[in-house]
Amino acid sequence: MSLKYSNIKVWGRSFAEYVKMFELTANDLRKKIIVCADGPSSFNAAMWKKGKKIISIDPIYSLKKDELSQRIIESADDIIIQINSNKDSFTWDSIKSINELMQKRLSAMNIFLDDYESGLSEKRYLAQSLPKLNFNNKTFDLALCSHFLFLYSSLLSFDFHVQSIKELLRISDEIRIFPIIDFNGKVSSHLDNIIHELIKTGYKPEIWTVDYEFQKGANTMLFIKKGNYKKFKKEDLIIERANKNDSKEILKIQKLAFLDEINLHNGLLIQPFKQTKKEIEQEFEEKVFFKACLDKIIIGSVRVKIEGDTCWVNKLVVHPQFQNHGIAKQLMENVEKFFSPEISKIKLATAKKSDKNVSFYKKIGFTPFRTGYLPYENVEMIFFEKTL
Ligand SMILES: C[S@@+](CC[C@H](N)C(=O)[O-])C[C@H]1O[C@@H](n2cnc3c(N)ncnc32)[C@H](O)[C@@H]1O
Repeated sequence: MSLKYSNIKVWGRSFAEYVKMFELTANDLRKKIIVCADGPSSFNAAMWKKGKKIISIDPIYSLKKDELSQRIIESADDIIIQINSNKDSFTWDSIKSINELMQKRLSAMNIFLDDYESGLSEKRYLAQSLPKLNFNNKTFDLALCSHFLFLYSSLLSFDFHVQSIKELLRISDEIRIFPIIDFNGKVSSHLDNIIHELIKTGYKPEIWTVDYEFQKGANTMLFIKKGNYKKFKKEDLIIERANKNDSKEILKIQKLAFLDEINLHNGLLIQPFKQTKKEIEQEFEEKVFFKACLDKIIIGSVRVKIEGDTCWVNKLVVHPQFQNHGIAKQLMENVEKFFSPEISKIKLATAKKSDKNVSFYKKIGFTPFRTGYLPYENVEMIFFEKTL
């Protein structure tokens, strides 16, 4: 089965969920915040109770309270049916059952409903719609948007996404969008092109792994700020061993770097994209990590595991902005130098569909020796080796 939503649901989440989805710190909560497509979530009401005015926009704020209440009931009916037929698409660790889910969500939406009419008169809830918003440039420090962009990629076009993101960047310094997979658990088909477009136009998109996951695989948030990395100069690149404290930054690069491979596999949520902070920290226990840095900022990485005289290379990644500058090659040469003469072979696996990777490894002296699958992934791989 798969989830089939023919329209965008009127549905909402709690303050606690927003804090986790967007990794909001106490400092973030002090910023001037706008929440787009906020629907009947209780974040705005909870912030108001804490003495902080934030703005929420959603076209449904043109409705009366009882009309909104009715739309929530209609959404609940459909969501129960969809989740019931797709239970395996969700994690049931913190929320244990559909009953508990409904209870939690409806109680958040009741907080919203109780706050709605006063929020309308205080102009905290404004009936506006992406992709065009009625605010001056840079009105806000932080714009949040959850369960709308990317999630509904099948209903909202690439152009709608680009225009909406540009609009959010016009009115706010920083934007955060959660999740970046669609409701069928595929990485949004719009994401890779949007990342490249943002980099080209002087923005710094990052993919953050957050401690929130209800829909399986929906544990990543797109973070965008104005700015760019330093221009690449070969002599400024430093390759050195990484430690656990680097895991967050390496995870960010890894997720950006694997987007083209995800596209080759129709949005398949592959392990490098799903990997959590805890999982990468565990990998540090058994692997040696290296990082490629520019001005102390990590722009590439590789991790290896030594088994006897063989070095297994894993997740050779370079930030999309710095690909084709020879950084991957330098990372591989560094591995070779670091472990020789103790090792006599380097082995690795790369997706068979990735012509770019296959030709790269051949070019740097690797030979294919078999095809097959990794234990955790349904992607056909080519296994390469190089004898030192
Ligand atoms: C699934 S709800 C998400 C609500 C909330 N952000 C959350 O995470 O729980 C999607 C919301 O998007 C709103 N929406 C639909 N079209 C929109 C548009 N063009 N601009 C802004 N919001 C829109 C819907 O009214 C709905 O409230």
